[in-house]
Amino acid sequence: MIDIEKNVSLKALNTFGIRAEASYLCHVRSEDDLRELIQSDIYQNEPHYVLAGGSNILFTGDFKGLIIKVDLKGIEINREDDDEVVLNVAAGENWHQLVMHVVGHQWGGIENLSLIPGTVGAAPMQNIGAYGVEIKNVVEKVEAIDLSSGGSRTFNNAECEFGYRESVFKTTLRKKFFISSVTLRLTKKNHQLNVEYGAIRNTLAANKVNTPSIKNISDAVIAIRQSKLPDPTKIGNAGSFFKNPTIASTEYERLKFSHEDMPSYAVDNQHFKIPAGWLIEQCGWKGKRIDDVGVHPLQALVLVNYGGGSGEEILKLSKKIQESVEEKFGIKLIPEVNIL
Ligand code: EPU
Repeated sequence: MIDIEKNVSLKALNTFGIRAEASYLCHVRSEDDLRELIQSDIYQNEPHYVLAGGSNILFTGDFKGLIIKVDLKGIEINREDDDEVVLNVAAGENWHQLVMHVVGHQWGGIENLSLIPGTVGAAPMQNIGAYGVEIKNVVEKVEAIDLSSGGSRTFNNAECEFGYRESVFKTTLRKKFFISSVTLRLTKKNHQLNVEYGAIRNTLAANKVNTPSIKNISDAVIAIRQSKLPDPTKIGNAGSFFKNPTIASTEYERLKFSHEDMPSYAVDNQHFKIPAGWLIEQCGWKGKRIDDVGVHPLQALVLVNYGGGSGEEILKLSKKIQESVEEKFGIKLIPEVNIL
């Protein structure tokens, strides 16, 4: 039996720590809970929003509608052999706890994605990625429920249409499906380690690790993240606020001419990705604080709430940043965080 709460504070449910209220909130602990909720009058008559870990959202005011809180739990081995293990994980499991569980077994594939806040169900939604690895590399399938009919649908990897911080769940099927579980394929041996990222190489070298284990890589990633990303339990934030922009090579040549030290990564032979953190830092924003909101002093891509900041203040700051980056570099930054 589902319980729909009224006038619920969302402060503890978003990692920005923004004070906001939802008119209604329902904890969904099973697929049946969701199907029951879909039949309810409140669901039928109010706008709704599916909220998981709240680590990639900015509330700019109260939510006048129903928040569907993803609380399905469970990790099961779907099948395994000597080489691989296939895990079926419920959407409401905490992502980092899953990574720790997997790393504990020395199963490979998601160790570079250690310490990313949020839930398992939200991970494919925005194709979480860090240090050269994206979740799309290990997703076998995603189980989802149609939010209008309650019917089940399985999406294989190709059907998820993964891109950089994108998937079909954020584009053509936006708000149409509720992800209920994710099936991941992990290696038990012959791991495809990804240690090319400079900071990982340097951390492993500093720890005198020559042949890294899954655990060594996870530990390195955790150390790197802790060194520059603020802990959301201490300072409100939602990780990278903007995506790293991709620009055409002609544009890249023009900028490189005036900014010799501009870092970049080739996407293909026509396009380059530029770290948004560098662009923001060049505009003088790094470490800036306006009242209780600001730009993190160690990573300019992360906007922070020092305690009493509002969603509107963060949004206003983000717009000022977008304006100055556009003015200085002619590049339009696009938010990575969902703004509600
Ligand atoms: N940089 C600066 N100043 C800054 C921050 C970055 O100059 O204040 C430059 C440096 O040149 C640095 C480069 O940007 O070498 C890249 O910085 P970093 O390694 O911190 O990564 P990022 O591109 O800023 C992306 C992801 C992160 C992910 C890291 C590591 C996006 C939007 N962000 O950040 O993901 O952890 O790479 O792979 O792609 C997130 O999505 O919330 C997130 C934290």
